[in-house]
Amino acid sequence: MRGLASVVLPLLVVACGGVMEGPSALADAGAFEVAVSIDGGTSTDAGTSAPDTASFPLDTPGPRPDTVAPVDEFVLAADADAIDLVPDLGLDLGTPDSGDTDAPPPEDVPLTADVAPDAGPPPPPKVSVGAPVAVTVQSVSVGAATTALGLPGDVVLVSASEASQLIDAKGKSAVVLAAGALRGAIATPAVLVAAGAGLLALDQGQLVVSPVSTYLAAGGATDVEAVPVTGGMDLYVADGGGLHRWHGGTLSKVAPDGLPTAGARLAFGPPWMGAPALWVVAGEVLYALLPDAAGLVAWTETPLAIPTDVAAAPEGKLVALVADGVHVRSADGVWAIGVLPGALQLAHAPGAAEVWIRTAAGLHVYAEAALHAVTGAPSEVTSLGQDAATRALALTATGVARLWLGAVPPPPKTSWKKDLEPLFQKRCASCHAPTGYAPTKLDTRDQWIANIDKITYMTTQGYMPLYGPALTQDELDLIAAWVAGGLLE
Ligand code: HEC
Repeated sequence: MRGLASVVLPLLVVACGGVMEGPSALADAGAFEVAVSIDGGTSTDAGTSAPDTASFPLDTPGPRPDTVAPVDEFVLAADADAIDLVPDLGLDLGTPDSGDTDAPPPEDVPLTADVAPDAGPPPPPKVSVGAPVAVTVQSVSVGAATTALGLPGDVVLVSASEASQLIDAKGKSAVVLAAGALRGAIATPAVLVAAGAGLLALDQGQLVVSPVSTYLAAGGATDVEAVPVTGGMDLYVADGGGLHRWHGGTLSKVAPDGLPTAGARLAFGPPWMGAPALWVVAGEVLYALLPDAAGLVAWTETPLAIPTDVAAAPEGKLVALVADGVHVRSADGVWAIGVLPGALQLAHAPGAAEVWIRTAAGLHVYAEAALHAVTGAPSEVTSLGQDAATRALALTATGVARLWLGAVPPPPKTSWKKDLEPLFQKRCASCHAPTGYAPTKLDTRDQWIANIDKITYMTTQGYMPLYGPALTQDELDLIAAWVAGGLLE
């Protein structure tokens, strides 16, 4: 569990100002600072009460990090007036405005470099369909669960109606605070979970409520997305009251007022106008948000049907869950229509090459630029959760199972160099190194092979390390696996 223990959370300080309307308000806002440790250990509040979450931007007393475009300044990319705002990029802006019946026929449109001669818009391409793929299934927990989320180190957070549990790679579980529906952002060194209780952070194997939660709307966070930036990361957190960006210790409200964010889904990466964008599905609309000098500007994108979820896929692709299937937008803005009517849910782990899709009839995966039916999955999957890359969590009435594409990966081979020498250095070298006082030297693989029976006996009986704490079960297992695997170099 060392990996979890070393998680250091960046959400240490939230510095904020009062409710304000614009940069000029900063000076008079009576800015106050709240310094909160992630585990709630310290809290200094030099100001008044926290601002009303419904209307606040949280700002540092300094240059306002974000300003927002009011909703009526949204640029509707499918709108003819807006097209010169995206000049010469050759973007496919989706279907033409169907209400525009007075538009001249395509032949009468003066040709420009961006318009293909003599043709109307080509019919949208179809998402290609690949061969079915088999999955391997491994049980994670027994019993009905409402949501599940895979965390680093093969730990799974399983949420059920009565209690939530953290289940480690060996199946040991610990009850944690009730978490509600879960979405996660995993960005080294932080692991953050959007949940009903707000934003949760994984700290030394424990889930704690991040102080940022204080500033989120009641009902908690609906999604969280980590975005790598120079020297660290930004976090985008959606809640019922808006979209917030955590950047350099400051949480700011960044969504323009009026951008609906209840139940919002976030995906970062696929480009909009050539730059990686934050994609937001909210209120049945897909937005691409890009930073500009004034803050974040939201553009609406037309995914050919009403979207309910999005996920980023490799090569700048964006996978959108829509009423009539799963559509895929290429990096250059062309939407391809999918063929999965009745698709219900997407699951996608940060950085994963696959997007998992649940339909009423079974599971599919979007991988290697094609949709594939999944075979071998549990039947009657009621929900999907995101797990590490290449994997998903399938929830059924009887339990939670981990799925991955292809066969069971072979267990990693135990070797002297990779596994045993580090164990020797840590637990035996003080006495059995060439310079140690014990006459039996054990610093090479050959010496271990020559003494392996004694080593196994002495360590399993607890005689060695002399005086020291006995080897852990994991360390004993490692020695046994090395022997069973043929004493590899
Ligand atoms: C604090 C010192 C100390 C540590 C640490 C220690 N040993 Fe020993 N060990 C000894 C001494 C002293 C002896 C008896 C002299 C000898 O045989 O070298 C011994 C003997 C042994 C023997 C018996 C050798 C023989 O031929 O009878 C084995 C095998 C052994 N140790 C394995 C280990 C292993 C494996 C570790 C680490 C997991 C370890 N020891 C850690 C001090 C230590």
